Amino acid sequence: MTPRKIIIDTDPGQDDAVAILLALASPEDIEVLGITCVAGNVPLDLTSKNARIVCELAGFPDVSVYAGCDRPLGRDLVTAEHVHGKTGLDGPDLPDPTMPLADGHAVDFIIDTLRDHAPGTVTLCPLGPLTNIATALQKAPDIASRIARIVLMGGGYFEGGNITPTAEFNIYVDPQAADIVFKSGAPIVVMPLDVTHKALVTKPRNDAFRALNTPVGIAVAQMTDFFERFDKEKYGSAGAPLHDPCVTAYLINPDLFTGRHINVEIETQSELTMGMTVADWWRVTDRAPNATFMGDIDADGFFALLTERLARL
Ligand code: BDR
Ligand code: CA
Repeated sequence: MTPRKIIIDTDPGQDDAVAILLALASPEDIEVLGITCVAGNVPLDLTSKNARIVCELAGFPDVSVYAGCDRPLGRDLVTAEHVHGKTGLDGPDLPDPTMPLADGHAVDFIIDTLRDHAPGTVTLCPLGPLTNIATALQKAPDIASRIARIVLMGGGYFEGGNITPTAEFNIYVDPQAADIVFKSGAPIVVMPLDVTHKALVTKPRNDAFRALNTPVGIAVAQMTDFFERFDKEKYGSAGAPLHDPCVTAYLINPDLFTGRHINVEIETQSELTMGMTVADWWRVTDRAPNATFMGDIDADGFFALLTERLARL
């Protein structure tokens, strides 16, 4: 099979970093056309720097990394240094990047790439707030029908939220953008907290990364060591959830995940439930399905894949 062409839209973030590493380690499955950065976990100057640090760590300094939107469509930016640290990539001590940012705006890169490729051949992989993707859809509505699929990390239903009781961080930061994306008509696959909270970096899984004994394996172990302090305390779980790599793992082996094709709407009005993904899991409305909302993961299979692929870098 020819590799799937993708654009990774991201706000690194340690788990974003692992998602990028998994994609770059998997050229037989995934061709990374470019990485577009957005403000989210930390401000844009840091996410666009961190994406380049990760590319260089992986040995891929030629990947085009674009800076995109520095704030949500209609709200002030909310960041998550309390989870990811001051840099967004706290944990390992990695050098500043030497590769430059690509010229141009991330939103234009997304639009141009979709227009330059045959319809249905480019997959978008958002790992952060959906500001860049929604802005591209607003600026160039013709691209919606050209998108092969949008495979995103965001939302939660049975798990509730992680930034408010009802909202997951990526959707909460820019609910207006999420609303535009979920109404775009493009095929959508969602990796919500219901899935990612089962992708826990337990001690043996973290030890397996470290045992690779490569710069990548050690850096990934140090990254997960860093953010698991926060998550373990918050959830009392056996390890931290590795959210964003679920997106790139899905592209490599979709059979690791199961879900339902259902209607998902985004709450954009209520301050109490702002950014909630109102997922009609039980199909109790007649609203048309617009997303495949995942509910479960083969976590052992996921970590086996991840460790095997990271070993290549
Ligand atoms: C999501 O929010 C960010 O903190 C992570 O990188 C992930 O994309 C999880 O809610
Ligand atoms: Ca992220």
